[in-house]
Amino acid sequence: MSSAPLPASPEGVSGPQHVAIIMDGNGRWAKARGLPRVAGHRRGADAVRRVIRGAGELGIPVLTLFAFSTENWTRPADEVSDLMGLLRHYLRNELEELGRNGARLRVIGDRGRLARDIVSDIADAERRTHANTRIDVNVCINYGSRDEIIQACRSLAGKVAAGQLSADRIDETLFERELLTAGLPDPDLLIRTSGEQRISNFLLWQCAYAELVFVDTLWPDFGKEHLELAIAEFRRRERRYGGVGS
Ligand code: IPE
Ligand code: IPE
Ligand code: MG
Repeated sequence: MSSAPLPASPEGVSGPQHVAIIMDGNGRWAKARGLPRVAGHRRGADAVRRVIRGAGELGIPVLTLFAFSTENWTRPADEVSDLMGLLRHYLRNELEELGRNGARLRVIGDRGRLARDIVSDIADAERRTHANTRIDVNVCINYGSRDEIIQACRSLAGKVAAGQLSADRIDETLFERELLTAGLPDPDLLIRTSGEQRISNFLLWQCAYAELVFVDTLWPDFGKEHLELAIAEFRRRERRYGGVGS
C-alpha cells in the first residue's frame, strides 16, 4: 500500500506526532436520518476504519480515539449493550484490516468493568497486532481522565506509605509513569467532531498543551480529508508553551 507523506509543512513545522480524537455525533447522525442511535454507532465504526487508514497514509505515528467514557455507562442499558456488542465485533473482525494498515492496537481504560470476553478479546487483539509498526492506535474504552489521575495518585501514595518512595521525589516524569498513557508522547492535536466544544474528561493531563480543533462534522461523516484539514489548521497555529513566541 502506498503511504503518501503529509503535504509539505510550512517553515519546517513538523507533526503532529500524536493526534487524539473525541469521536462525537453518532447519535445525532442517526437521529437526522430517523434511524436508531445504534445505526450511528455502526457508521461510526466505519469512520474509525477510514481514519486509521488515513492517518497511516498521512504518516501520523500515534492516533488515540475516545470510544467509550467512564460516564457513558449512564446511557440507557440498550445503548450500552449495543456499544459493547459493536466493540466485540470490532475486536474480532478488524484485526486483518489493522494488519493491512500496519496498526498496533492498544486499549486504554479501566478494564475492570468490562465483560470478561471483551477483556480477553482486547488482550488477543493487542497481542496479534503487536508487531505492526506503521501507526500506534490507542482506543480509549471505559476511560475517564479523572479516574486515571486518581488511580495514579493512589499508586504513588501506596508507594510512599510503603516506604518505597519519598513524597518529594514525585515530579511530572514520575507521575506520568503511573498514567494509563505511560510511554506515549502527549497529543499535540486534539480534534472533537460534532460541533461540541468541550473535553468531556478526556486526557486532561496529557492535553495540557494540545492544540484543540473543533469541527462540525458528525463522526460517521468524518474521513481522511477532514483529518487533513484539522492538521492544516494545527500547522497554522503558533505553539508558545507559555513563552512569547517567534
Ligand atoms: C459518540 O457519539 C459515541 C460515544 C460517545 C459512545 P454520541 O453517541 O455521543 O453521539 P451524540 O453526541 O449523541 O450525537
Ligand atoms: C465523549 O462524548 C465520549 C466519547 C466520545 C467516547 P460524549 O457524547 O459522551 O460527551 P458529552 O456527554 O457530550 O460531554
Ligand atoms: Mg455525544
